[in-house]
Amino acid sequence: MRKVLELFSGLGGWRFALAGRGTVAAAFDISPAANATYELNHGHKPFAHELATLPFERLLEHQADTWVMSPPCQPFCRMGNHHGLEDPRSRAFLHLLDLLDQHPPESLVLENVEGFQGSDAHDRLAMVLDHHGFHRVEHRLCPTRFGLPNQRPRFFLVASRRPLTQPSLPAFTPQAVAEYLDEPEDPSLYLEEGQLAKHKPGLDLVRGEGFRTACFIGGYGRRYVGSGSFLVTDRGVRRFSPTEVARLLGLPESFRFPENLPLEKRYKLLGNGLSIPVARWVLGHLES
Ligand SMILES: C[S@@+](CC[C@H](N)C(=O)[O-])C[C@H]1O[C@@H](n2cnc3c(N)ncnc32)[C@H](O)[C@@H]1O
Repeated sequence: MRKVLELFSGLGGWRFALAGRGTVAAAFDISPAANATYELNHGHKPFAHELATLPFERLLEHQADTWVMSPPCQPFCRMGNHHGLEDPRSRAFLHLLDLLDQHPPESLVLENVEGFQGSDAHDRLAMVLDHHGFHRVEHRLCPTRFGLPNQRPRFFLVASRRPLTQPSLPAFTPQAVAEYLDEPEDPSLYLEEGQLAKHKPGLDLVRGEGFRTACFIGGYGRRYVGSGSFLVTDRGVRRFSPTEVARLLGLPESFRFPENLPLEKRYKLLGNGLSIPVARWVLGHLES
């Protein structure tokens, strides 16, 4: 059984994607909200350590053969500063690159925004992997290719010291947005007239019978334009609920947030999250 280190673990998207094909030996994340959500769903408490300064022994002691990670994406985001490795938020990734170079595991899987591809961080990672003779595949994948009505194009890299498998892409039937909606809906999610008048021209408006929603970002709870889709119903225009966004990410129906976690933090964790069916397919490269 694969022994996995889940780095920048968030709500535990990689653990959901693993679905029993590996054991998470340890998870690491600095965010208390992420760690509380992770623990509630996976029954396992991540280490709340700053990864940029964590001594290597603290990671190596778990004797994991596989690392999965979604490092902070702001340095590579379309809406970010594009400072890549110069951005202080890349310090933890740089530290892990040193660890990778000194103590390479058997396999590594990384997810990030599309802007990661071709960045200085991507170059450095590829250099280390090549130096140690890893096999490597890279993809740009969107959940719409897997039948989900949600656009979330992301970069994925899989590397292993063993040859990689090439899983075929699944056949799928596109699902309508309506399949992902709460029943009953939450009336507090509707925009008031004033909000609607102010923001409507820039909103990404979708309907239940449609087959796409835009990527929901971490700021969806407080922002309007460019933050995700808004649903048009007979009653008006509303935000998608966190449960609906979770479904659109392919999280299981059993997925929960801690009861007292504010709405904005729920959207933030989901906005940082992974599309589970896509991540699950990507992990298939490691199956022999
Ligand atoms: C893109 S999110 C990863 C989301 C995760 N894959 C999931 O399924 O939810 C990045 C995560 O890294 C954490 N993080 C950012 N910088 C960190 C650091 N220096 N040390 C530890 N965790 C960090 C954030 O709290 C955030 O949860």
